[in-house]
Amino acid sequence: MSYSIAVMNRQDLPQATDIDREAFPTMIPATNFDHEINSPLAHYIVARKDEGKPGGGQYIIGFAGFWAMAGEAHIVNIAVRERHRHRGIGELLLIALIDLALKVGCHLVTLEVRASNTAAHNLYYKYGFILVGMRRGYYSDNKEDAVIMTLESIRTAPFHEKLKQLKRAHYNKWHSPLKQVAR
Ligand SMILES: CC(C)(COP(=O)(O)OP(=O)(O)OC[C@H]1O[C@@H](n2cnc3c(N)ncnc32)[C@H](O)[C@@H]1OP(=O)(O)O)[C@@H](O)C(=O)NCCC(=O)NCCS
Repeated sequence: MSYSIAVMNRQDLPQATDIDREAFPTMIPATNFDHEINSPLAHYIVARKDEGKPGGGQYIIGFAGFWAMAGEAHIVNIAVRERHRHRGIGELLLIALIDLALKVGCHLVTLEVRASNTAAHNLYYKYGFILVGMRRGYYSDNKEDAVIMTLESIRTAPFHEKLKQLKRAHYNKWHSPLKQVAR
């Protein structure tokens, strides 16, 4: 199966909202994607199934986004439809986010994630994020702590080499090339 990454547009919003609700059911209020994609600071992307949705339209299987502020890319979320997980899509979205962060001039990527979310922690560790701090009781639904993870120095030669290797390994495993992010 082949996927492509594209900048999130208005047609993607209903599916992005469905995926957001499935992935973060206790987060209130739900993400207002309409507001998000209109912010000049926000950068949102989607992963689409290349063959399109039965009956027409594009089938979205995941999305991700960050806010670029003062040279830092703050990842807001990455989510993949539950039934499409464990197939490299989350990683593909993270690769695309890092590429986009580089493209818009960021030098660092950072995020907050639930302390219990080991799947996400592993994904971020794989790309060199390190744990830099903790926000106690950050999540209002269950007062869970957030851990702050940061990927520093994304503009350095060693990181470019690491990213190249990780992209190659991802391609060899999933045969899903990351095409140019399309509008
Ligand atoms: C986190 C999430 C985006 C991962 O997406 P995915 O498509 O299933 O992940 P991938 O198949 O690309 O896996 C990439 C890496 O993530 C890690 N990972 C993913 N799922 C994992 C799991 N269940 N347990 C442990 N590690 C896991 C692994 O390091 C994996 O690399 P590997 O294949 O070399 O082991 C997905 O689980 C999700 O949408 N979760 C709900 C939303 C969420 O919590 N988002 C993160 C907070 S912003």
